[in-house]
Amino acid sequence: MINALRGMKDLTFEESERFVHIVTTAIGISKKYGYSYIETPILEETKLFRRSVGESSDIVGKEMYQFEDKGGNDVCMRPEGTAGVVRAFVQAKLDRRQNEKFKFYYYGPMFRYERPQKGRLREFHQFGCESFGEGSVYEDFTIIQMIGDIFRALGIGYDLQINSLGCPECMPPYRENLINFLNDCKDELCEDCNRRIGTNPIRVLDCKNKTCQSLLADSPKLITSLCDGCESGFEKLVQLLKSENISYEVDTNLVRGLDYYSKTAFEFVSNEIGSQSAIAGGGRYDKLVEFLDGKPTPAVGFALGIERIMELVVMPNIEREGYYIGAMEEGAIDSLFPLASKKRVTDKVTLEYSPKKLKAHLKGADRVNARYCAVVGEDEFKDGTIWVKDLVEKQEFTINKSEF
Ligand code: HAM
Repeated sequence: MINALRGMKDLTFEESERFVHIVTTAIGISKKYGYSYIETPILEETKLFRRSVGESSDIVGKEMYQFEDKGGNDVCMRPEGTAGVVRAFVQAKLDRRQNEKFKFYYYGPMFRYERPQKGRLREFHQFGCESFGEGSVYEDFTIIQMIGDIFRALGIGYDLQINSLGCPECMPPYRENLINFLNDCKDELCEDCNRRIGTNPIRVLDCKNKTCQSLLADSPKLITSLCDGCESGFEKLVQLLKSENISYEVDTNLVRGLDYYSKTAFEFVSNEIGSQSAIAGGGRYDKLVEFLDGKPTPAVGFALGIERIMELVVMPNIEREGYYIGAMEEGAIDSLFPLASKKRVTDKVTLEYSPKKLKAHLKGADRVNARYCAVVGEDEFKDGTIWVKDLVEKQEFTINKSEF
């Protein structure tokens, strides 16, 4: 028997219903916020992710599904959606339409070669949104509000953590400060952190090692070293969240695992799904379009992890729907097809091809959760009628086929 690869999953029945419910809910809400659908390839040139997600990130350093294709090209299965959307944005020359705003949503599989565990897959699915051309912190707030709307519609509780990662003006001096601090306690920091001091010191802040965490309690904080522009932007975000009663917590160690962020960064976490608790994450990435050869374009976005949300979503009651149609005699089966076609124009129809007793048909209708069980019995076949039972109202009636 051939099984799915480790860390990859099939979704069927109840699980796939959850998946579809999450995606359709998120699509419905993002459309209300003015987003339109973008589809980009799963396979991209590896250098796209190296340049955007960052050489020193775990994703690029350890987790890429990277290979050489038959043409000798260095390609990679996308580990996340933002880089591909930005590439598509630049390739379509949308960056040249500087006075316009563009908002895209997407969903689909992402691939990271991580150690699989609960809530952490090698193939997982994201729903994401990317907004281009709006540099105002109002847009950061609006995106956070939209994610809140999605989670509310799905019946999911969350904690929101926010931080500011500064900009090219305030980040470099802070970085220097942090490197000095880290060098002073180098010997006590873990191996990973020591490596990161040289490659990406900011990522040290989000080390999960207990000793590192306690040392970092005294580290310089970027939030208190922001330049005037970043500071007033962050204050405005906080004020907007407060005025809309959106609870949040400022987490000065929230740095995100991808290198392209500046200014606002946020994560939505749930305490109900174990250690892999981030259910959505995102932030502003004002330099990425430029970094991928486009004209400078401010941008902000997020992605939510569909599998993690599947653990939490409260599914709406599934009501009985449509028709189950069957016959009690072999000879009557052919006459069911025109009836099914007629009903399918407006309703869901399950057609049973084997003749059965009435009781078996009622069971069949129950199994597919049909509202109506419609059966052509011996008498009905002779009379050109059909027997119908409404399984919600518990009423039965016999009608002419023409009235069905
Ligand atoms: P991310 O935080 O790496 O951000 O991923 C977003 C979400 O994907 C996470 O919060 C989590 O729910 C889910 N996720 C990540 N890795 C896994 C995994 N191995 N298994 C299951 N679920 C996972 C990004 O990917 C950014 N592109 C988000 C973004 C969009 N920022 C701006 N625009």
